Amino acid sequence: LEPVPAPAAGADFVVVANRLPVDRDTSGDEPTWRTSPGGLVTGVAPVMRSREGAWIGWAGIADEEFEPFDLDSMHLVPVRLSSEEVVRYYEGFSNATLWPLFHDVIVPPEFHRTWWEAYQRVNERFARTAAQTAAAGATVWVHDYQLLLVPEMLRALRPDVSIGFFNHIPFPPWEIFSQLPWRREILAGALGADLIGFQRPADAANFRRAARIDRGWSTAGMDIRVPADPERGTAAHVSRAAAFPISIDAEELDAYSHDPQIIERAAQIRRDLGDPAVVILGVDRMDYTKGIRHRLKAYGELLDSGALSTDDVTLVQIATPSRERLDQYQQIRTEVELAVGRINGEHSGLGKQAVHYFHHSFPRAEMTAFYLAADVMLVTALRDGMNLVAKEYVACRTGDDGALVLSEFAGAADQLTQALMVNPHDIAGLKRAIRRAVEMPKAAQHRRMQAMRRRLAKENVQAWSQAFLDELEELDEDKGGQATP
Ligand code: ADP
Ligand code: G6P
Repeated sequence: LEPVPAPAAGADFVVVANRLPVDRDTSGDEPTWRTSPGGLVTGVAPVMRSREGAWIGWAGIADEEFEPFDLDSMHLVPVRLSSEEVVRYYEGFSNATLWPLFHDVIVPPEFHRTWWEAYQRVNERFARTAAQTAAAGATVWVHDYQLLLVPEMLRALRPDVSIGFFNHIPFPPWEIFSQLPWRREILAGALGADLIGFQRPADAANFRRAARIDRGWSTAGMDIRVPADPERGTAAHVSRAAAFPISIDAEELDAYSHDPQIIERAAQIRRDLGDPAVVILGVDRMDYTKGIRHRLKAYGELLDSGALSTDDVTLVQIATPSRERLDQYQQIRTEVELAVGRINGEHSGLGKQAVHYFHHSFPRAEMTAFYLAADVMLVTALRDGMNLVAKEYVACRTGDDGALVLSEFAGAADQLTQALMVNPHDIAGLKRAIRRAVEMPKAAQHRRMQAMRRRLAKENVQAWSQAFLDELEELDEDKGGQATP
């Protein structure tokens, strides 16, 4: 790739992600924009709203071309994907190769050369769009596994910009990552960034180790020395790989949870559920990484044995539809729905439903009402970069009560250390934790919740982006210093 000039009227701050913060919704009579699913958008949207800049991404629909537009104080630059690219780049390489590979191969990843070809092609389109959007010397922040090649491509196109990359999902140990036939290209791609952020220190360490083993590149502390690559048009540089755990907009959620209408809605939800003594809640994208089956198994067994009864508890499971054309996602949905049906068939009574199950998404206000209504929150991911749902639950518990059961395999476990930690594969342990949560005395709930809330009030999403962007700026200044003789 050859360097290109900076545009005359470019943006000083550019976010590049596979998805725009909004999705084109064509289900009604008139097409509209709705919030895109997932934690990336929840985390990055408040950052974008508070800064001038542009967000480059896909509008969530194939074969449609949109002009750049402004929405909700953000400037959005849509990138087009053809239906073939949605199949090969998005559903294929991103979500059937990298997603399972980076999540402990919970399901087997598939490797197809046609998918890889489409992934490179689409990454180049995103890199070129970024090169045409960023002002001279701008900061460009690239996000997540769908765009791992963009940093290196952008570096070749626009050596003047400062490039950050954030990996929202885990980064696997070398022993798993090395299965990827294109591991070298993926590593070199990400290493085009000056700063590479990960959710947990272990993810960053896995990445540095991969760079050492595969490329033989030397590391010192968090830094990796990347030599020049004349073929790809990049000069030698140092790239830093470190942990920056993402968080939530605690202030916004606090405001929502103090809104009298939302408080009343939470009370209404409890009444509609039949006023049970204990409301248990699960909120996830419908994904095999979330451990929804494990959670249902533990809950079902607790009902079977009589340890829990529908006289006093109910479970609300909300699952947002996700990646629905992929086999593995259809399969997890079928399994979850079968388990819900079984539990309800065996344990529900009139007005006493064991599981209330919803397969759709809710507006933010309604989600907050559910968090407010729930005494116990179950987050049982088998592997998860962060899991913002766990943090959202805590941020909404303005009364300092409620109990959080949290998987140690979610990044959030590093910050929410007062949660009841579980290994979701250990069904006996999960059952014990659910019972403890249901029976937890108020004083213990308060102690744990208060400590977690205090931490989240400080370690919010603003602090996350500030820490990342400050470090990127410092690296950029150092780079400038080195260049001056
Ligand atoms: P992931 O990014 O893997 O989906 P996270 O837990 O990090 O997981 O983020 C999920 C985000 O999506 C959270 O902000 C959560 O509030 C939101 N969300 C999850 N389920 C729903 C739903 N049914 N309706 C609306 N928002 C949802
Ligand atoms: C996770 C990923 C995001 C992704 C989101 C929703 O949060 O880290 O990159 O956008 O899931 O998934 P989707 O495939 O619908 O974009």
